[in-house]
Amino acid sequence: MGYKNEIDLLKLPKHIAIIMDGNGRWAKGKGKLRIFGHHNGVLSVRDVVEGSVELGINYLTLYTFSSENWNRPKLEVMAIMELMVNTINKEINRFMDNNVRLQAIGDLKMLPDKCYTELTNAINKTSVNTGLVVTLALSYSSRKEILQAVKQIAGKVQNGELNIDDIDEEIFENNLYTNGMPNPELLIRTSGEYRISNYLLWQIAYAELYFTSKLWPDFRREDLFEAILDYQKRERRFGLTSEQVN
Ligand code: IPE
Ligand code: IPE
Ligand code: MG
Repeated sequence: MGYKNEIDLLKLPKHIAIIMDGNGRWAKGKGKLRIFGHHNGVLSVRDVVEGSVELGINYLTLYTFSSENWNRPKLEVMAIMELMVNTINKEINRFMDNNVRLQAIGDLKMLPDKCYTELTNAINKTSVNTGLVVTLALSYSSRKEILQAVKQIAGKVQNGELNIDDIDEEIFENNLYTNGMPNPELLIRTSGEYRISNYLLWQIAYAELYFTSKLWPDFRREDLFEAILDYQKRERRFGLTSEQVN
C-alpha cells in the first residue's frame, strides 16, 4: 500500500512549491483560534520536509507568509512571527540530521529583529548541508520580486554594465530571489482554493498545478506522494504536440 512505491524515482520533480493554506479554517472547524491551526501546520511542514528528503527531492519552496499577510490582525501576525522563531529553533537539529539547507526569499527586512536573526542563524548553520534545499517564502510577493528584478536590471543598464538588447530570460531570472534555483515543475495548493495568491508568478510559467481540498494541518507526506504521482501521470508538452513529445 501507499503511493510511495508507485512513484518513479527517475521522474521526480526537482523542485516542488507549496502554498500551505487553510490553517485558520482547520482551527475554526475545531472551535479553536486561528493560531492553533498555524501551530499544527508546523507538523505538516516537518512531515513534508522529511518526505521530500526520503524521496530525494532537490528543492522544496514553501509559501510561509505573504507580503499581503502583514495586513492581518496584529495579534495573528505577532503570533505567527513568534511561532516562526520557535519553530526554526526547534527544527534546526532535524535539518542538520537530514542534511537540509534552509533558505528564505522575500522582503526579509520587514521581519521582526528576533525572527530575522534566528532565520539568518539557521540559514548560516545549514549552509554546509548538501541535501534538500528548503526555501521559505517569507514576507514574499511575486510582483515585488519582479519589480526589484526590473529595478536591478535597469540600474545595470543605467550604469552601462548591461545593454538593453542583452536582457533575456536568463538575465531576468538571475535577478529574481530564486536565482540559481530551477523553476518548480509542480505547484501544490491546499485548502480547496484555486488561485496563486502572488506566488512565484514568473517561475511557475510551466509548472503543473495540483489542488487539494485538504487543509494544510491535515497534509502529510502521503499527500505529497499522491501529488507527485498525479504529476507523473501528466504529459508536459511545453507547447508541442503530443506526438512530438512522445
Ligand atoms: C495559511 O493558512 C497560513 C498563512 C497564510 C500564514 P491561513 O491562515 O491562510 O488559513 P485560512 O486560509 O484562513 O484557513
Ligand atoms: C497564501 O495564502 C499565502 C500563504 C500560504 C503563506 P492566503 O490565505 O494569504 O491567500 P488568499 O488570501 O486566500 O489568497
Ligand atoms: Mg488562507
